Amino acid sequence: MNNSPLDKALVDEKIKQLRIPDVGKASIREVVALVNLVEEATGFKYVRMEMGVPGLPPAQVGVDAEKEALDRGVAAIYPMVDGIKPLKEEASKFIKNFLDVELAPAGCIPTTGSMQGTFVAFMAAAHVDKKKDTALFIDPGFPVQKQQMMVLGLKYETFDVYNFRGNKLREKLESILSKGNINSIIYSSPNNPAWICFTDDELKIIGELATKYDVIVMEDLAYFGMDFRQDLSKPGVPPFQPSVANYTDHYILFISSSKIFSYAGQRIGIMAISDKLFERDYPDLQERFKGTSFGATVTLRLLYSVSSGTSHSAQWALAGMLKAANEGQFNFVEGIKEYGERAHEMKALFLKNGFDIVYKSDLGVPIADGFYFTIGYPGMTGNDLVENLLYYGVSAIALDNTGSCEEGIRACVSFVQRSQFADLDTRLRLFNENFSEKD
Ligand SMILES: Cc1ncc(COP(=O)(O)O)c(C=O)c1O
Repeated sequence: MNNSPLDKALVDEKIKQLRIPDVGKASIREVVALVNLVEEATGFKYVRMEMGVPGLPPAQVGVDAEKEALDRGVAAIYPMVDGIKPLKEEASKFIKNFLDVELAPAGCIPTTGSMQGTFVAFMAAAHVDKKKDTALFIDPGFPVQKQQMMVLGLKYETFDVYNFRGNKLREKLESILSKGNINSIIYSSPNNPAWICFTDDELKIIGELATKYDVIVMEDLAYFGMDFRQDLSKPGVPPFQPSVANYTDHYILFISSSKIFSYAGQRIGIMAISDKLFERDYPDLQERFKGTSFGATVTLRLLYSVSSGTSHSAQWALAGMLKAANEGQFNFVEGIKEYGERAHEMKALFLKNGFDIVYKSDLGVPIADGFYFTIGYPGMTGNDLVENLLYYGVSAIALDNTGSCEEGIRACVSFVQRSQFADLDTRLRLFNENFSEKD
């Protein structure tokens, strides 16, 4: 590694200082802390691909609406725990306009980011039926959701969907669901970290089996509309964002404002509970939380307990952004296409320098260029790749952090500036010169 741009001893010293036992397996936050320390000590700027921060300015229409709300004095007033009416109405319209799905405003509930939405949804789903004590993650997935399960003390199973795309998904899911202990199925599409997108056929399989086994589907749409292979940006005009909502009636959609509106800092998203699930009475859930319907339990028992609702001004911001999108005045997809363009160029740099894409396609169709992609290097485990790239000034997390069984790393494009592409190219070239077989 004598051609690496960073002093190995210095990086190793910082790893020791942070007491990271195995840097290849480091969590996102550990990698962030390490890279911050090395950058501070050396003045060297990393190509940072570890963290999914937006990296674009927030949608102005949201900022304006939030400022106006603050000026009106909403900061002094507790918002309704299930959300302000204009937000609920715009969220319901947004779901109709961009998913072509009917979902009543009552089920559209703001949460302090999708993080809080999944936290309370996992809690509720775990208690709907005493026989069903386990959640099922279709991985790879967002690592913090597993941390939420750990914090909540809940059980989960997972499998890597890599070898179970298309019809193979049915057999795999059926083999797990038929055991009778699964309360919910969780996945993101577009997927963090692999950027695979489930096809309508796959979503139909998930929906049909969820109905058959009476399981709640949690569809994480943090990257709503960001499959840039199709134009999903026109309200009320097909194609629409594919969704399991078309194939089952017991589902929860998580629509985060963090990436689509670059509004991560204000911590707001929508948890949209289907009408049937919202109204459903689950005796075991009622016994556990002393509530009534599923929807009322989530809002009046769980959300009320954890934060008593979501920031009042942020709710007005989100209402403003959704309204502008619904009325065709704000093309939110256009504003974030930049991620796809960056991914396209960055992938080319990796491929040129001896790397491979790990999750390559959606049933034969190359994956879209978007917020993340996955890469491997021949003969190197994902953990080794994370570690070795750190000495070359490139930071990322290993795929095994995400429930993937494949060897590789997740690259997040959002924080990498175009002005760094030349550096990235040079560093990858040096890396490849050092590690390629010819050496
Ligand atoms: C798949 C997925 N779900 C949820 C979140 C968190 O969303 P929020 O910022 O709304 O809490 C992220 C953020 O990276 C994500 O990638």
